[in-house]
Amino acid sequence: MRFDIVTIFPEMFDGPLSHSIIGRAREKGLLTIHVHDLRKWACDKHHVTDDYPYGGGAGMVMKVEPFASAVEELKTQNPGAKVVLMTPGGELLNQQSARGFSSLPGLIILCGRYEGVDERVNGLFCDMEVSIGDYVLTGGEIPAMALLDCVARLVPGVVGDEASIINESHSDGLLEHPHYTRPAEFRDARVPEVLLNGDHKKIEAWRREESIKRTATRRPDLLEKAVLTEKERAMADSLLEQRDQEERG
Ligand code: 6GU
Repeated sequence: MRFDIVTIFPEMFDGPLSHSIIGRAREKGLLTIHVHDLRKWACDKHHVTDDYPYGGGAGMVMKVEPFASAVEELKTQNPGAKVVLMTPGGELLNQQSARGFSSLPGLIILCGRYEGVDERVNGLFCDMEVSIGDYVLTGGEIPAMALLDCVARLVPGVVGDEASIINESHSDGLLEHPHYTRPAEFRDARVPEVLLNGDHKKIEAWRREESIKRTATRRPDLLEKAVLTEKERAMADSLLEQRDQEERG
């Protein structure tokens, strides 16, 4: 899969994309990542990429022409890619949309900065706007790295052990069960007995239950859409009921 990132801070991407799993996947040729300086497509000799907002107000707005030229050029190099603009007002990224992106031949990711991006960038040159959460960052660079990381690891072969991405948090709409490794006892904290006995059926059942419990306490909003058996659904409902009662006091 090919990623093109357009930003006024290309240096921000140097470290995060050359280490660990993403770095190895690039070496293996599973991922191609190009980071581009938006200023390259600026239309004046000072390479200006922002301007004052029409209608007045605080801050600067990123201009349409540099993004337009960038997208037009990069689409010829990354055919079939979707163009996404990173902005806090975009559609929330989740595991499901990440899976959708990972089946594409490529992504062209535009990073917004300052107070905003001229609306015509989205209207004329983007397939969608994406946000990574309900909080505001100073720019789209860190969100672009988050998007790239979570999409790239779903590309076949990028994560060595395919099984490890099957059971993880959010893959079936639930949070993941807790994990333990040696020692079996640390200070007063013991590893749950069931994990030490090698009964894989029991372990599987325990993990599933912990996963549902954890989701009910931390992310009850996820339980509605989670895929559960009838018995699990009953357990989830009673956990939620318990939680409601505790909240009411
Ligand atoms: Cl995509 N950009 C910015 N600036 N802030 C964000 C975001 C994006 N997603 C969450 N917060």
